[in-house]
Amino acid sequence: MGSKKSTVDECKIIDLRKINDPRGNLTPIEGGIDIPFEVKRIYYLYDVPCGESRGAHAHKKLRQLIVAANGSFTITLDDGTNKKAYTLNRPYQGLLIVPGIWRDLDDFSSGAVLLCLASEHYEASDYIRNHDEFLVYKGIKE
Ligand code: TYD
Repeated sequence: MGSKKSTVDECKIIDLRKINDPRGNLTPIEGGIDIPFEVKRIYYLYDVPCGESRGAHAHKKLRQLIVAANGSFTITLDDGTNKKAYTLNRPYQGLLIVPGIWRDLDDFSSGAVLLCLASEHYEASDYIRNHDEFLVYKGIKE
């Protein structure tokens, strides 16, 4: 389905493997196996000051898996018609975000680390950073 028509219902929590060990637990993520895309890029977000927000954009092509590698935060997804909010707080769960979804990131706990696995290299032209433009892109607003 194209990203202009994508909905928040296509985004979902993926339960990742957790290899329990008294020495410390481990979660592997293999592109194309544990998640439905090959990984071209990884980035992580950290040292987010209390009360700050991130995100506030959509992507046209990019698929992402977002994991709270430490701490917690809230991701609110928006397809222009419906919204769905997720609190991520487990390093063995990821939120799959399909293209064409606006996201706002809030409520970062102290020490939170957001790990993102991305299907594409960084491309500024893949971003929609204006919500009205996003609604036009989704065919909801003229
Ligand atoms: P942005 O994606 O807007 O951050 P967030 O959604 O977490 O608020 O990116 C912030 C800045 O970092 C922006 O100037 C682009 C740059 N950036 C890169 O250079 N490479 C990357 O892979 C990412 C994700 C961002």
